[in-house]
Amino acid sequence: MTLATDTLPEYTRAQLALRNGQDRDEIWVGYQGLIYDVTRSRLWQRGNHYEHWAGQDLTRELHQDAPHTEHVFDKFHAVGRLKNPAS
Ligand code: HEM
Repeated sequence: MTLATDTLPEYTRAQLALRNGQDRDEIWVGYQGLIYDVTRSRLWQRGNHYEHWAGQDLTRELHQDAPHTEHVFDKFHAVGRLKNPAS
C-alpha cells in the first residue's frame, strides 16, 4: 500500500509520550519515523505489549525483541511522523 506519509503531521517525542495508553485514550507507537495508532488493538491495551510501552519509538525493540516482523503494522494507520527520529 502506498501512503503519502510526508503529508502526515509531525509530532515530538513529548507529544508521542502522551499517547502511552495511560494519560490519554489514544495509544500510539513510533516505528521507523512513523507513528501508528494501535488504540483498537487488543494486544496493546493500556499501552502495554509484552513488556513494551507505547508512547515511544520502538524501532530498535521491534528489531531486537519481537518474534514478528513490521508487517504487524499493516492493518494500522500511520497518524503522524516522529520529529527527529533516531537515525
Ligand atoms: C518481546 C517482544 C514482543 C513480543 C513477544 C510480541 C508478541 C506479539 C504477538 C504474539 C503478536 C500477535 C501475533 C502476531 O501478529 O505475530 C504481536 C502483534 C503485534 N506486535 Fe508485538 N511483540 C513484541 C514486540 C513488539 C514491539 C517492540 C512492537 C512495536 C514496535 C510490536 C508491535 C506489534 C503490533 C503493532 C502487533 C499487531 C497487534 C494487533 O494486530 O492487534 N511488538 N506481537
